[in-house]
Amino acid sequence: MRRSKIAGMGFYVPERVVTNDDLAEMFDTSDEWIQQRTGIKERRYAESGQGVAGMAMHATERCLEDAGMKKEDIDFIILATLSPDCTFPATSQFFHGKLGIPPTPAVDVHAQCTGFLYALTLADQCIRTGLFNNVLVVGGETHSTGLEFSDRGRAVTVIFGDGAGAVLLTPAEEGDRRLIMNSHLYAEGKYAEKLWVEAPTSRLRPRLTHEMLDEGRHYPQMDGKFVFKHAVTRMTEVVTEALEVGGYTIADLDMLIPHQANLRINEFVAKKLGIPFEKMFNNIQRYGNTTAATIPICLCEAQEEGKLKEGDLACLTAFGAGFTWGATLVRW
Ligand code: ACO
Repeated sequence: MRRSKIAGMGFYVPERVVTNDDLAEMFDTSDEWIQQRTGIKERRYAESGQGVAGMAMHATERCLEDAGMKKEDIDFIILATLSPDCTFPATSQFFHGKLGIPPTPAVDVHAQCTGFLYALTLADQCIRTGLFNNVLVVGGETHSTGLEFSDRGRAVTVIFGDGAGAVLLTPAEEGDRRLIMNSHLYAEGKYAEKLWVEAPTSRLRPRLTHEMLDEGRHYPQMDGKFVFKHAVTRMTEVVTEALEVGGYTIADLDMLIPHQANLRINEFVAKKLGIPFEKMFNNIQRYGNTTAATIPICLCEAQEEGKLKEGDLACLTAFGAGFTWGATLVRW
């Protein structure tokens, strides 16, 4: 059976830094509240017009450079986002157009904060079965153009930031590093409306009304405490499952790379799993929740900072709207 490996990685965050104090000038919040409740100090916002495909380009250039490969080598593109550039066609197709490579299959995955793990798992399976060789997996989000900068939206608005990350998966050979081991994915749709953007909706005619806009139904709505509790429970469960299925115990885990929605969620996960906080990578302080981009950004930074070393057993885990959640083990 073929296995896949991470041949290259890259990420991009926009230049514009938005601090908690900047947000406090727009609506009723404070640096103290945001840091205490979420751990976030600042996040990045994309320029108008940049979009997910634009940010994905920068992340991909770095990823290909890291892999020592050319864009023409890519034979399948999977792009995870919940903030597509347009309703249709898919952002992966706009991205393909920007890349300017010959016709290549390209598809979006829409699984929110777990989107990157879904995309990575699909890419891994494509390589295992021999369908494709060089699969580019991108996660990108432009949240900042879809947030409500007012007191009504403040609980959600403060947590999100923009960015993109990319990894290139290729077939592994004997002795290769950064191997994808096993993945576990879940969705529980009965909670879809606990964290969602309702409008515009193709269920209604018309899809968007002035009334919906006035009510803010085109902005994210979240039952924050409910989501918080489920995030802690599900990430803890799925990490345990991934380790067990792989034949490992928690003591074998060298680095946990969790989704970055709230530092307090991750502190609870570490505590429930019984791992020291040093065995968990976090960068939410600087970027907020970049949803599908979070895990590839974390992977790049964890490696740059020497927190992922050769031979380490790493576990990537995420939880998000849907609800969706998952975990992937990687032998670094
Ligand atoms: N600044 C100041 N006060 C605020 C803010 C703010 N930005 N937001 C809310 N408050 C106030 C509220 O008005 C409320 O005040 P009250 O007690 O006087 O009524 C109080 O703070 C508590 O409000 P909650 O909304 O209950 O805040 P909570 O403690 O739940 O924190 C948060 C909100 C940080 C969003 C938290 O619920 C959370 O992190 N939830 C999980 C997020 C998550 O994991 N999402 C999944 C991934 S995202 C995805 O998949 C797209």
